[in-house]
Amino acid sequence: MAAARTDWSPASWREFPAGQQPDWPDAGALDQALKQISALPPLVFAGEARSLQHELGRVASGNAFLLQAGDCAESFEDFSADLIREKLRVILQMAVVLTYSAGVPIVKVGRIAGQFAKPRSSPTEKVGEADIPSFRGYIVNDPTTTEAARQPDPQRLVQAYHQSASTLNLLRAFTKGGFADLSRVHAWTQEFVSSSPEGQRYQSLANEIDRALAFMRACGVDTESNPNLSEVDVFTSHEALILGYEEALTRVDTLTGAWVDCSAHMLWIGERTRELAGAHIEFLRGVANPVGCKLGPTSTVEETLEICEALNPSRIPGKLTLITRMGADAIEEVLPPLLRAVRESGHPVVWACDPMHGNTFTAPSGRKTRHFDDVVREIGGFVRTHRAEGTWPGGLHVELTGEDVTECLGGGDQLADADLDHRYETVCDPRLNARQSVDLAFHVAELLRDFT
Ligand code: PEP
Ligand code: CO
Repeated sequence: MAAARTDWSPASWREFPAGQQPDWPDAGALDQALKQISALPPLVFAGEARSLQHELGRVASGNAFLLQAGDCAESFEDFSADLIREKLRVILQMAVVLTYSAGVPIVKVGRIAGQFAKPRSSPTEKVGEADIPSFRGYIVNDPTTTEAARQPDPQRLVQAYHQSASTLNLLRAFTKGGFADLSRVHAWTQEFVSSSPEGQRYQSLANEIDRALAFMRACGVDTESNPNLSEVDVFTSHEALILGYEEALTRVDTLTGAWVDCSAHMLWIGERTRELAGAHIEFLRGVANPVGCKLGPTSTVEETLEICEALNPSRIPGKLTLITRMGADAIEEVLPPLLRAVRESGHPVVWACDPMHGNTFTAPSGRKTRHFDDVVREIGGFVRTHRAEGTWPGGLHVELTGEDVTECLGGGDQLADADLDHRYETVCDPRLNARQSVDLAFHVAELLRDFT
C-alpha cells in the first residue's frame, strides 16, 4: 500500500520522492524562474479543463472516442506557424475519418503547447569517452552533445511557457477562425498525402461530406454559421514531468475554489513516474484537471486499482484516462485482468491505447523506430480485448507530425530501414508521418465500426 496521503497543496509533492527531475545546478536561479512563471497568466482556463472532463465523461460511458496526438517532444528550434498548422491538419483529418467512418464524436486532444519534458532511462549518456547528462527535453537542456549544452538551465522553463502561449494562441485562431470549418475538409489534406492511396481514400470521404453538407443546406439547415460545423475544440495536454513548472502554473479556480493546473487542459503521468508513493501521483491527485496515467506491460491489477483510487477517489466520469502501452505482443495477455478488475470496481475510466511506446526498437541502421504494422497490431489487440470484456476501447494516443518525415517503418509507402535517414527529424521518439497517420485513422475507424 502507498503511504497515506492527507492534505494536498500545489507544493505537497515536494514531500514525496520525485523521479526524473533534472539536477538543476543553481537552486537560486531555479527558484527565480519558478517565481517568474507563477506571476505569469494561466495558459488555459479552468472552465475549458472542465469541458474537456465533461467530454471525456462521454468517452468513459462509450459515447465518444478520444484522439490524443502530437509530437513526442516539442522543439525550441523547429517551431513555426507552418509546423503547428500541419500538425493540426492531420489531427483534423484523422478526426473526420473517425467521425464519419466510425460514427462516433471525437474528443481531440493535442500533445502540444507544453509537451517538452522527456523522462530518460539513464541520467547520463556516453559520448566518446565522456559521460554527459542525458537530454531531458528543451524545457530542461539542449540536445547538443556537449557537457555545457546538457546543463539544466531554469530559464528554459520560462521559454517553454512562452512557446506554449504562442502555440496555443495559434491553435485557438486555427480552430475557431475558419480553418477548421468542415466545408474546408478538402483543404486539410496536403499534396504529399493526397497523391497516395490513403489520401485518395480521404478525398472520396471528403466528397461524401461535401455532398452531405449540400444536402443539409438544401433542406434549409444553415451550415455556414453553425459552430458545430465551423469550429472545433482541440484541447492541450502533456506529460506532467517537471513538477516545479506544473506547480508554478497551478491556480485556484475562482468559480469552484478548486486547484487547476493551468499549463494544459489535461496532464498525464508517464510509465516511468507512476509510483504510487511518488511525487507525480501526489501532485496530480490534487488538481481538478482531467488526468491520464500510462500503464505498461508490468502493470498489475492491484497497482491499477490503487492508481484509480488515488487519482479519482470520487469516481468522476472523465477524470481519469488509463493509457495502455503494452506492446503488440503483450497487450492481449496483460490487459484482460486489468479491464475486468477496473470494471468490477466501478471506476468510470477512459481506456486509451498508446500503440507507440511499447513497440519501439533500434533498427540495424542504429535508428530508433517503430513499425506501422506493430502499431496497428497493438490497436487490434486493444479493441479485441475490450470486446471480450464488454468495455469500450475509448481512445487512441499517438505520436505524429504533419510533415513527410521518415521515422516509422512500413505504412503505405513501405518505408524501410534504408529510408529512415532521409528525413529523420524527431527530437525524441519516431513519429508517424501525415500519410501513415491518415492510414491509421482508417484502420482504427474500421476496427471501431466492427465493434459497434
Ligand atoms: C511519451 O508519451 O512520450 C512517453 C515517454 O511515454 P511512456 O511514459 O509511456 O514511456
Ligand atoms: Co514518446
